[in-house]
Amino acid sequence: MTRGLILTYFVAMTQLTQSVRLEFADDIALIRIDNPPVNALSHHVRQGLLDGMKQAESSEASAIVLICDGRTFIAGADITEFSGPPMPPSLQSAQDAMENCTKPVVAAVHGTALGGGLEVALCAHYRVGSPSSQYGLPEVKLGLLPGAGGTQRLPRVTGAEKALQMMTSGDPISAEEALTCGLIDEIAEELEAGAIAFARRAVSESFPLLRIRDRNDKLSDVSSDLFKEFRQGIARKTRGFLAPEYNVRCVEAAVQLDFESGLEREQELFKDLMKGTQSKAQQYYFFAERAALKIPGLPKDTKSIDIATCGILGAGTMGGGIAMNFANIGIPVTIVERDSEALERGLAVVRSNYERTAARGGITSDDVETRMGLISGSTDMGDFADCDLVIEAVFENLELKKSIFEQLDSICKPGAVLASNTSALDINAIASATSRPEAVIGMHFFSPANVMKMLEVVRGDVTSDIAIATAMGIGRSIGKTPVLCGVCHGFVGNRMLFMRGIEAEKMILEGASPARVDQVLFDFGFPMGPFAMSDLAGLDIGWDETTSSGSTVRELLCESGRRGQKNGNGYYIYDPETRAATPDPEVEQLIREFGERQGIEQREISDQEILERSLYPMINEGAKILAEGIAIRGSDVDVVWINGYGWPMYTGGPMFWADTVGLSEVAEKIEHYSSTLGGDHWEIAPLIEQLVETNGSLSAHSN
Ligand code: 3HC
Ligand code: NAI
Repeated sequence: MTRGLILTYFVAMTQLTQSVRLEFADDIALIRIDNPPVNALSHHVRQGLLDGMKQAESSEASAIVLICDGRTFIAGADITEFSGPPMPPSLQSAQDAMENCTKPVVAAVHGTALGGGLEVALCAHYRVGSPSSQYGLPEVKLGLLPGAGGTQRLPRVTGAEKALQMMTSGDPISAEEALTCGLIDEIAEELEAGAIAFARRAVSESFPLLRIRDRNDKLSDVSSDLFKEFRQGIARKTRGFLAPEYNVRCVEAAVQLDFESGLEREQELFKDLMKGTQSKAQQYYFFAERAALKIPGLPKDTKSIDIATCGILGAGTMGGGIAMNFANIGIPVTIVERDSEALERGLAVVRSNYERTAARGGITSDDVETRMGLISGSTDMGDFADCDLVIEAVFENLELKKSIFEQLDSICKPGAVLASNTSALDINAIASATSRPEAVIGMHFFSPANVMKMLEVVRGDVTSDIAIATAMGIGRSIGKTPVLCGVCHGFVGNRMLFMRGIEAEKMILEGASPARVDQVLFDFGFPMGPFAMSDLAGLDIGWDETTSSGSTVRELLCESGRRGQKNGNGYYIYDPETRAATPDPEVEQLIREFGERQGIEQREISDQEILERSLYPMINEGAKILAEGIAIRGSDVDVVWINGYGWPMYTGGPMFWADTVGLSEVAEKIEHYSSTLGGDHWEIAPLIEQLVETNGSLSAHSN
């Protein structure tokens, strides 16, 4: 590592385009990119890079350094340009100018060299990185592959296996790792000085002008088994996505073909992905996730409260998981339970979750102790007095929650944010139990709360801007994807889920087996269908033995002792060892008899009908939620469903998917089911009708 180099040089500067300058530091030419926020490769950056290379090569400089201003090196192609016609110059012309330059070209990388950014760096003869720099090809996350030669150059530098990992995961590697695998040549503490010194050394010691395209040393003995095994290894995680397989094919091409033919293959496959719906959906999602953080009407300078300590009430399924999120980032948590037995049980589950992660190598055993050390248990709500944020996660019962908020009001310090993790209840009613309703907010985590990224932040009628900013901000800090929504039964996610539930129950009573319904939704891309999901969550959530009257299949199952996965029996029978699910003929019989008792005609239901009756009521409800202003924008609904319920990201989420199906077809289907099946949930949303008329879209709709 080079460090402590002192630079004194005369700088002459030419502004090449709005975002690129050419500077001279004595004998070294610096091409400097400044295209905030992330130095994406917009057309003026490509033009500046091309012009800069030409001018630097014909100047008196003996070597060239490519460097960026701002927070990062080039973070990739400008995604906003993807939807328009290609604009000259091509990136390849700039890359060719670098690679074929007769003077050493050194890329100086800080921040993240991602996608097209890394592909540009790979055309330099050498790469120097700052200690915190990162390197990745995240195109797969946008439904694409690195289409600027990256698929052919990366394997030539790192070897096929590492390239496969980087390209199919899209995850970046650190500077240390990049140095070890040969992706960069040096780490420099003072990046600019270090890169200039490296360039001077390249001149004085006559380093060869290394073109990665000419290298084959790391690809000469790659076995074809590598690809077979790699495909098997990623199959489960990448089910339904096209881009990971296309990336693998490109690395195969790098191994099997010469560089130019490999590039042609890369271009064919890139174009294929680019024109498909999956990449459009994934690019849409990239911006949707970021848009969700922008809250109209919330002044930019709204101060949020610094959360130094957090309180959690209830150490059950949710409370324990929520506590882990805070301990994971070093925030001390006080968990309060109603008695010491429940407290011990809850803390033991938290410990065993951490220990399982440690056993898999995710954290060290020291981390387990540090994090457990940050979580203290109590049976006295008075211990919340100093907490900046308290999250209530007790049973789903409005009266109970109201009485708890009344107590919190008298215990918590002024300024504290009081949050409820309720999955459906009225935040306004809960807030009304306090003398400070403006401090009350919903923070709806998803189960398992330490794993799932979704966080619905629910604003009540009088929730303050400070409480909103605090909940959104701390949500981001603990690694969640927060989406702000308004109050209604079930908020955005569960309200739509309830509609799917109504049709799912009806379909099994008409003769479709739970396993068949689940299979259709699994094939659509969900990780599991509604019945497997109910079994996983526990059939007895919200079930009360004393009032149960056998009026739904779920009640009947609970009454027959079935609780879902937790006791090995639910809609399915579960293998105690492997947890593998098998359809239960007894349950199917029970459902058939229940349907017959209600006089429901049994019939064959097609897979298409199962899919339509599952998804269209959700789209319809999503449109109602949007029209009511419960969700700020259509894309927020998609973010909730992708992160909260595993809606397949490559379809863009329910709103985007409905747009791709075509809203007039969606409207037709909803009207068909409304007239044949009936029910409020099939009453078509006026917003859908309006958008059909105006040729509008649900995913682009915003309030
Ligand atoms: N193009 C256009 N805009 C981009 C962009 C890109 N490649 N990357 C980020 N932005 C925008 C964001 O939309 C956001 O805009 P906003 O402030 O108006 O909401 C702004 O830049 C800042 O982004 P983040 O909020 O994400 O900032 P972070 O600091 O959290 O993260 C980052 C920075 C790690 C660079 C992250 O933005 C990122 O991962 N960007 C995408 C990287 C990527 O996917 N690159 C590959 C592009 S495809 C490609 O290169 C094809 C090539 O092979 C031909
Ligand atoms: P749970 O039954 O697993 O845990 C609730 C815990 O609260 C129990 O440990 C109980 O002892 C404790 N408790 C009850 N009254 C208390 C009191 N007065 N003081 C202190 N502790 C008390 O329930 P779960 O599943 O964790 O749900 C909690 C909340 O989270 C509910 O509002 C639920 O709707 C919501 N939720 C649940 C999800 C799930 O999948 N389980 C998902 C998202 C939200």
